Amino acid sequence: MSKSVVIAAALVAWSSAAGAAGLQGLPAGPLGQAIQRGHDMIMNSTTDPEVKPYIGNALTCNSCHTDGGDNDHPGSFLGTATKFPAYSKRENAVITLEDRVANCFMRSMNGMRPSTDSPVTVDMVAYITWLNRGKAIYGAAPAKPAAPYGAMLKAATHADVVAGGQVYAANCASCHGAEGAGIAGTFPPLWGAQSYNAGAGLANVVKLATWVKGNMPLGNPHLSEKEAFDVALFVDTHPRPDFVLSQHLPAGMKPDDYNATVRSETDTVESNFKKVGLSLQALR
Ligand code: HEC
Ligand code: HEC
Repeated sequence: MSKSVVIAAALVAWSSAAGAAGLQGLPAGPLGQAIQRGHDMIMNSTTDPEVKPYIGNALTCNSCHTDGGDNDHPGSFLGTATKFPAYSKRENAVITLEDRVANCFMRSMNGMRPSTDSPVTVDMVAYITWLNRGKAIYGAAPAKPAAPYGAMLKAATHADVVAGGQVYAANCASCHGAEGAGIAGTFPPLWGAQSYNAGAGLANVVKLATWVKGNMPLGNPHLSEKEAFDVALFVDTHPRPDFVLSQHLPAGMKPDDYNATVRSETDTVESNFKKVGLSLQALR
């Protein structure tokens, strides 16, 4: 297939997923309405007037949880509702699914923490939980194949970043742009002020490589593990907003409104590499 055919096919898949399609088989009444509403807010986060105030970049939840999480790619929500409450190392606390949603607002969406009692959080959780209907609570998680990305990161050099730039030019720039800025409303930005911040899951090269391998190029994920790793390294060595935890908690919030015992955290692109023993300067 030519590149333009692949892009056209991906665009069709993308635009049909992004439409506010009515979900089939919803419960009747207010619960069904909440599930539908949660779905629509996840698909159209950047334009939805109720969600927008909590978002600090150009991403929707669907930018990363592709097909609204209703697929088996990395970022899937199938299985998610069966895993919570769960211990989270990042917050050093047992957190709920509502907390988990709010945490993606603060990090991946570079925004403000919504209340876990707000309609935004509750409706999104209603949708994610509905996707998991019939599944066993704390059911066995599917075994994940061992990925080589941790070892690749430890050994990463400037040459891998250069190789990642080549993978990017050949497979990604057509949609996300040579400078990673994307196209407003169509292709999300991969770095810079409008992308996920340095405290987000995808700011971790290992997580980004896993995610890219299963999701990108959109509609035709075909990269080898080495290519996925290199392009993830290339993307995550670019500038993006720092994450300063206190800046993502609303002013005047009571301590109980943030379910975490970790109360101070600062992440930058540089500190993310330093943590794994790498120098950003040497990589770039
Ligand atoms: C920039 C990409 C990105 C965006 C945007 C994003 N997320 Fe996430 N989300 C992730 C990644 C990556 C993980 C897994 C994180 C990890 O492994 O630490 C995750 C995990 C989750 C989980 C837990 C899934 C599980 O099965 O454990 C939920 C729930 C979630 N996100 C909801 C949301 C919602 C709701 C939004 C929009 C408000 C959102 N996310 C936006 C990347 C993103
Ligand atoms: C055909 C167009 C297309 C191509 C090519 C493509 N992407 Fe994407 N990408 C998208 C779209 C569209 C989304 C948002 C998901 C959705 O709307 O379904 C996305 C989302 C993303 C995201 C998560 C959101 C964000 O902005 O951070 C990352 C990371 C990403 N792409 C990386 C890549 C990488 C790396 C490549 C090359 C290997 C690539 N993409 C190739 C269209 C594309």
